[in-house]
Amino acid sequence: KRVAILISGSGSNMVRLAEDMQGDHPARPCLVLSNVPDAGGLARARAMGIPTAVVEHRDFKGDREGFENALISAIDPHAPDILCMAGFMRILTPLFIDHYAGRMLNIHPSLLPKYTGLNTHARALAAGDAQAGCTVHGVTAELDCGPILGQAQVPVEPGDTPETLAARVLQAEHRLYPAVLRRFALGQRGMLRL
Ligand code: GRF
Repeated sequence: KRVAILISGSGSNMVRLAEDMQGDHPARPCLVLSNVPDAGGLARARAMGIPTAVVEHRDFKGDREGFENALISAIDPHAPDILCMAGFMRILTPLFIDHYAGRMLNIHPSLLPKYTGLNTHARALAAGDAQAGCTVHGVTAELDCGPILGQAQVPVEPGDTPETLAARVLQAEHRLYPAVLRRFALGQRGMLRL
């Protein structure tokens, strides 16, 4: 299986996914694409020998359809079987999502269905939750609401700040996403709990 990974920032999830896709793994990374030209993850992908591409949303001010058609034109020549959104910070419309229906994953830093959207760690702390974590889900048109493929829980510690909680959740993301992608690439379904 060929996997395209979309990023906007440091790409730490992308690196873990690419590192896992070696040896007997059924998938290999075929592209890392960012909407941000100087995203740190692009240099990390190049260092790993993975083809990269940049499509800047800034070039399509207000023209979501134009941006998404440019994304598709940059992605499809690499013939991915699976798309992994990994810290990709643009909301996508049904135009893009329908084009990759059923083969697009995302990782979200909360225990969905709690805390869709942004600032998930601050919201979990404000709610006094004892547990936090991350979710890998299939991407559908409704933001952060697709079928859940895996979740990993972490404890909230006394004195946690959004930053300390985010760091703990990110470590869990780095374990969860590769495990879910491996199963998804093997055609296995059902929810993984870590
Ligand atoms: C992190 O906040 C992570 O929770 C979310 O995207 C952000 C950046 O991740 N998935 P990465 O280091 O770019 O993978």
